[in-house]
Amino acid sequence: MTKIILTGDRPTGRLHLGHYVGSLKRRVELQNSGDFDKVYIMIADAQALTDNADNPEKVRQNIIEVALDYLSCGIDPAKSTIFIQSQIPELCELSFYYMNLVTVSRLQRNPTVKTEIKMRNFEANIPVGFFTYPISQAADITAFNATTVPAGEDQEPMIEQAREIVRRFNNTYGDTLVEPEILLPDNAACLRLPGTDGKAKMSKSLGNCIYLSDTAEEVSKRVKTMFTDPDHLRVSDPGKVEGNTVFTYLDAFCHAEHFGKYLPEYPNLDELKAHYRRGGLGDVKVKKFLDAILQEELAPIRNRRKEYEQDIPAIYDMLKRGSEAAREVAASTLARVRHSMRIDYFTDTQLIAEQAQSYKSQL
Ligand code: TRP
Repeated sequence: MTKIILTGDRPTGRLHLGHYVGSLKRRVELQNSGDFDKVYIMIADAQALTDNADNPEKVRQNIIEVALDYLSCGIDPAKSTIFIQSQIPELCELSFYYMNLVTVSRLQRNPTVKTEIKMRNFEANIPVGFFTYPISQAADITAFNATTVPAGEDQEPMIEQAREIVRRFNNTYGDTLVEPEILLPDNAACLRLPGTDGKAKMSKSLGNCIYLSDTAEEVSKRVKTMFTDPDHLRVSDPGKVEGNTVFTYLDAFCHAEHFGKYLPEYPNLDELKAHYRRGGLGDVKVKKFLDAILQEELAPIRNRRKEYEQDIPAIYDMLKRGSEAAREVAASTLARVRHSMRIDYFTDTQLIAEQAQSYKSQL
């Protein structure tokens, strides 16, 4: 069976470590695995506009940031098609037809939409475009016949909704669309990396993110001030590992070989945690370890970014070519959709012939 990936990000800011462990890193592995026939990575500018309608400049400026982050993480345009959502008008048409297959109450029950409406204080005046973005996301996925959507767990309700739309469409109009599956990160700590302040979500407005483009100094500073166990006051005190952000980050980033390199007195993370729990292990030492690991992971990304930043027009060229290639695929899905929905009048010779016949026989 053909295996196709589609995933994407809203261009509302630079990408951070949460994006990286939750999705980017995995995408690069999947891209390089050879298991997939096609990989599409979409910069979801039209979706970003659903709650930034009054700030198109922000979206416009961040397209290049997201593209640079992709490339510097190792997404390779020779293997993956990177494109810009708004440049594929076929997606709007698909959304328009899918809207007939979804009820308002079903959208209201979408947990991600619910939380996001609260977060943005939209309750009384939700933009229709924002409210319906799960439908547009179903169009993004199905336009490319995606079987697999690698994403964080916050996207689960979106994929579920897309699956429902596919089933409804296929039941109503005949087998046409491919039902996608979400591919979650395999490490539980990567499902949702907390902010450096221990808050549940990394967000620009909270200032608790480590960005992929941060300098080495900025990364160290964030690690130094990272939230730990507030009751772990003296080195000798027993400490808590659960809810301790430094350990959550270690769960997400640390591998066996890091110990040999940076902390040879411990054989593995379990032993480090055990010592912390017993007492006698200071935050500074654990933070230094995490800092070394993050620096090792981020330095090559930062360096590649510097190189790509030297030729911005080449990146726009790549995005243009990607968008053109993506558009062809979306157009062919749309043609199939129109055919299944019986709105392909001019190419439907049978319809014309039958109607001609029936009018003739009335003569
Ligand atoms: N909703 C995703 C985000 O907030 C972006 C996105 C748009 C997406 N369309 C998609 C992700 C389709 C996966 C598949 O980051």
